[in-house]
Amino acid sequence: MNFQEAIRSAERYVQQLQGNDYSGHGWDHIWRVRNLAIKIAEVEGGDKFIVEMAALLHDVGDPKLHHGDESKLIQLPMDFCRKIELDVTLTARILGVIQEVSFKGAKVRDENTTIESKIVQDADRLDAIGAIGIARCFYFGGHHGRELYNPDVLPQTHASYDSYRKSRGTTINHFHEKLLLLKDRMHTYTARVLAEERHLFVQKYLSQFDREWYLKD
Ligand code: ADP
Ligand code: NI
Repeated sequence: MNFQEAIRSAERYVQQLQGNDYSGHGWDHIWRVRNLAIKIAEVEGGDKFIVEMAALLHDVGDPKLHHGDESKLIQLPMDFCRKIELDVTLTARILGVIQEVSFKGAKVRDENTTIESKIVQDADRLDAIGAIGIARCFYFGGHHGRELYNPDVLPQTHASYDSYRKSRGTTINHFHEKLLLLKDRMHTYTARVLAEERHLFVQKYLSQFDREWYLKD
């Protein structure tokens, strides 16, 4: 199987697995992250095949889609790479990116060991901010039965992945616990530039939300 065929096969696999997801992890998210990751890689370098495959496969094993089962994160993409008989060195590089991609809390440092990992993480995070990021947030909140906003429930600064993972706060709190922090956690210059406008939009959205909630003029 050549690179092009491996990518087509990964697209089909992810569409089949995540095509019916309405919690913010659907195929549309993967499609956008892949496009963003390629756009960033064209400027910043990195192995395009690894970037594209990791972007396509980065959420197939997301524990949130598998009842919290952390073992799926690597197991599922690894099973897929084995099934298409992808070279083991390439497989390990793709899995390395997937291992490092997810946000784990405000005070948990990112550990990106490769340029491909930085690029895919930047792309994933760009899709969590801006107009689409806001839409995904409320998608997630509705799907998981979270309150829109509650002034009595304050945002948390999560110091561990465990506390972040277990958090059940409001959707607006999630803006403070993650979305607003992402701009300053981008790794590549290209993503930092793209993040700027999306970040401003999120800030504007939050101030409008506040004006409407508290009937401010
Ligand atoms: P990603 O797919 O970017 O790795 P996550 O898996 O953490 O991100 O979450 C998927 C989407 O759902 C993101 O847009 C994220 O901001 C949103 N989300 C995650 N946790 C929450 C939450 N507790 N409340 C509201 N939205 C959330
Ligand atoms: Ni994602």
